[in-house]
Amino acid sequence: MTSPSPALAEGGFPVVGIVGGGQLARMCQPPAVNLALTLSVLAESPTASAALVVPHSPVGEHTDLAAVRALARDCDVVTFDHEHVPQEVLLALQEEGVALHPSPQALVFAQDKLAMRRRLTELGLPCPRWAQARDAADVEAFAAQVGWPLVAKAPRGGYDGKGVLVCRSLADLEPWLAGVGEGGLADGILLEEAVDFSRELSIMVGRSPSGQAAAWPVVETVQEGGINTEVLAPAPSLDPDLAAALTEGALRIAGELGVTGVMAVEAFEVRDPGTGAPAYLVNELAMRPHNSGHWSIDGAVTSQFEQHLRAVLDLPLGDPSTRAPWTASANVLGGDYPELYATYKHLMARDPGLKIHLYGKGVRPGRKLGHVTVTGGREGDLGSLEELRERTRHAADYLQGVVTE
Ligand SMILES: Nc1ncnc2c1ncn2[C@@H]1O[C@H](COP(=O)(O)OP(=O)(O)O)[C@@H](O)[C@H]1O
Ligand SMILES: [Mg+2]
Repeated sequence: MTSPSPALAEGGFPVVGIVGGGQLARMCQPPAVNLALTLSVLAESPTASAALVVPHSPVGEHTDLAAVRALARDCDVVTFDHEHVPQEVLLALQEEGVALHPSPQALVFAQDKLAMRRRLTELGLPCPRWAQARDAADVEAFAAQVGWPLVAKAPRGGYDGKGVLVCRSLADLEPWLAGVGEGGLADGILLEEAVDFSRELSIMVGRSPSGQAAAWPVVETVQEGGINTEVLAPAPSLDPDLAAALTEGALRIAGELGVTGVMAVEAFEVRDPGTGAPAYLVNELAMRPHNSGHWSIDGAVTSQFEQHLRAVLDLPLGDPSTRAPWTASANVLGGDYPELYATYKHLMARDPGLKIHLYGKGVRPGRKLGHVTVTGGREGDLGSLEELRERTRHAADYLQGVVTE
């Protein structure tokens, strides 16, 4: 099956291929429009979130080498909306000379949480205590070190907390142990100590193939049931030394792993057991635009989506500085209302400063349908941040049907 090639702007502008047609690919389209870049998206269906806004969105599976190869043929570089493209597919394309950003050699550390833990530990970056477990004896040995409860993770294929299990005893892990050797548990289970964190942080960086890198400020992320619900930028009351250490850590990870494009480092804020000083532990890496960076569309000089396009094309990076003292963002998850159009009209009338971002996805309970952002406040004034949070939380709840007034 052949599809016509994408239509290009005149003037020699490149084409960026994106594997996967979710909201991350969709949100690359506005900066692509402004920069006269052309996107080409390999989409799951003709009505996938990105396929609705990118004219050239051939339909195909990210696991199908022929489909990804056909996409790559028309593109100067290929990047990703998610981390699920199999290594075999990536390596075959790399062998054929396709410019993949990030490369499969870097991406593996966002695809495989065991590989990530091993590599970050080698690099001396702070991680929760962890182990690889293939059987009950491995689990018992690790539990003897760190105690129960512990956190089990499927090394591959998890997202939004779906591959994460808090275990109080061996019995909780029995179903997973039975699945070891298959699918996401092919190499066993990743076990981690249950970290007693005060909050979750995230830092995003962009890095280009020539090695230029830029970091946005560290943000706070709020999770409910394993799903991110709110992002506060910058993270309020963050210790400046911790902010600097986490930023330096993320830039080091990007450099050491050879990351190209944008990367998120999810982290836990903890206390150093020795000194009691604020410290961090790395939770996981994402090598693509990330939920914790959506705030940057309205709150930073350069959004994560624009930066990703610049970085994968090896263009000079944009300024990641904030445009306001505070930015608060809240995710809109699928709720009871099947339609969003009627509710957002009410929100526009109620709060003209609210920025609404919807992904064109059908409503299903718990599904990420969009996000809302408000910027403003006064430097260092936490009360003014709380006001922004109230506005975004109200808007998200209203769109979700949680509140009706
Ligand atoms: N070792 C841990 N200790 C305590 N909580 C954890 C640990 N690992 C993960 N979590 C919680 O589970 C959430 C999802 O885990 P994560 O590894 O980020 O999976 P996903 O790939 O689904 O985002 C985290 O954001 C955090 O709230
Ligand atoms: Mg996560």
